[in-house]
Amino acid sequence: MQKISYQLTERIGEIQLPKSLGFGLIFTDHVFEMDYDPEAGWHNAAIKPLRNMNMHPATMFIHYGQAIFEGLKAFKTINGDTVIFRPEKHLERLNNSARRMCIPEIDVPFVLNALTELISIEKDWIPTKEGEALYIRPFMFGSDPVLGVRPATQYKLIILLSPVGAYYPEGFKPVKILAQDKYVRAVRKGLGDCKTPANYAASLLATEEARRQGFTQVLWMDGVEQKYLEEVGTMNIFVRFKNEIATPKLTGSILPGITRASVIQILKDWEMNVTERLISMEEVISEYKQGNVLGMFGTGTAAIISAIGMMTYKDLVMNFDCGKPGDLAVKLFDKLTSIHYGKTEDEYNWLVNVEKKGIEAG
Ligand SMILES: Cc1ncc(COP(=O)(O)O)c(C=O)c1O
Repeated sequence: MQKISYQLTERIGEIQLPKSLGFGLIFTDHVFEMDYDPEAGWHNAAIKPLRNMNMHPATMFIHYGQAIFEGLKAFKTINGDTVIFRPEKHLERLNNSARRMCIPEIDVPFVLNALTELISIEKDWIPTKEGEALYIRPFMFGSDPVLGVRPATQYKLIILLSPVGAYYPEGFKPVKILAQDKYVRAVRKGLGDCKTPANYAASLLATEEARRQGFTQVLWMDGVEQKYLEEVGTMNIFVRFKNEIATPKLTGSILPGITRASVIQILKDWEMNVTERLISMEEVISEYKQGNVLGMFGTGTAAIISAIGMMTYKDLVMNFDCGKPGDLAVKLFDKLTSIHYGKTEDEYNWLVNVEKKGIEAG
């Protein structure tokens, strides 16, 4: 097993976090980095000070987008422990994205140890107010300085850490969604189930147009017929019908969310009828008109649960839960955040405790 080298900076004075943290605006002192080339494989594993990158303008990923990333969170529990939510699932998903994008896979146990090491060094950066967290952004990209269109031969992996504020600083509020069929985010057999920049680039114009019309997010429909619900903004979606809680099945164009998987598990344990299947807009409209849609919500690492208060599709405005977050969305949000902050037992073993894990990376 390769060794991690440490180049740590001496911090002068206390960490001063601003009152309002926002999202991804400030970064901790150190990053984890690793390089890949065909001869040495992944090597040069190091925890080092955060610095600007010095890159040749022909660096491949800038031109052809051969890059992938993850997004997960570490929390300070009410007992003062430092925990990460389901990190191995995120690193496994990073490897799924790597396979699709011709990027060499990482050794998950090794990178997980490196991550826990980095977080234990940076743990004083974890904000402690309700809803706050340390956002973890691992990313990988092809770094050859060559303009030919082909997979790179050299790669870099970097893990950045950013203290982030509560997603709902003014309380858990429902959002307004525009279901549109003018643009698609991803297509089956394309890149939709990978966390790769192209999917986010594809979503920008639709999201900007929706925001200009007063909506918070876009509801994405399938890339072929724009008939089936897929995702909402950068979240997975759940529809609460009268006798069923349905979420779109993973057809290849949907990111398999870790929060989605956690919510499915919790709902099953609450003995609720949760299904993964195709959900057409036609079905949602027809059930809504009969009073059978009790609510909708999104799931994702950033917001955890996002209640949908209103959805517009063409001329139809659908309102849910009288503008308040639905009781199921609130219950799920409370359950997941109670696990994050150690307010309830981690019955699923979803948390990795950074201190207790010890330092195995050597
Ligand atoms: C496109 C997209 N869908 C869904 C999700 C939710 O995934 P997770 O619950 O793993 O954060 C995310 C966020 O990572 C996303 O970017």
